[in-house]
Amino acid sequence: MDRKDNPIIAIGSDHAAFELKEFLKPLLHSMGYSIDDVGTYNRESCDYPDYAEKVALAVIKGAGKVRGILSCGTGIGISIAANKVPGIRAALVTSEEAARVSRQHNDANILVLAGRPFDAAQVERMVKIWFSTDFEGGRHERRLEKIRALEKKYGGE
Ligand code: RB5
Repeated sequence: MDRKDNPIIAIGSDHAAFELKEFLKPLLHSMGYSIDDVGTYNRESCDYPDYAEKVALAVIKGAGKVRGILSCGTGIGISIAANKVPGIRAALVTSEEAARVSRQHNDANILVLAGRPFDAAQVERMVKIWFSTDFEGGRHERRLEKIRALEKKYGGE
């Protein structure tokens, strides 16, 4: 991918994944991405839904030009929160295979990682795979349409 076509990365975490977020920023810079760090900016206790919302909105407003990375201690809470925002497909990735398939099949627009603990070498491999793998479309597009239908049917209360 040409560097000028690279999306901006909106990145956010709670306190439990602050170290992971700080590890990711130079890695993403070295991959040619611009970064929008929405916080948190220190290790003080905070609430992961606040950062899920900020990154999710940046991704939705960016209309394909912004992708997201989120993390909390387990990655679970912040995934649940981000996936409440219509149009968000936040994937909690714990292996290289999941990194690949979450792009190929799910067209995930937010990569979620667990911050406590994290393996730097594995995180780097998963991030590189996630950002270099394209959505396959085809039968997977039909399934994404069904997810959008679920959002319409049950969302908005
Ligand atoms: C914070 O202690 C922790 O609950 C949070 O980072 C996350 O793991 C929640 O899913």
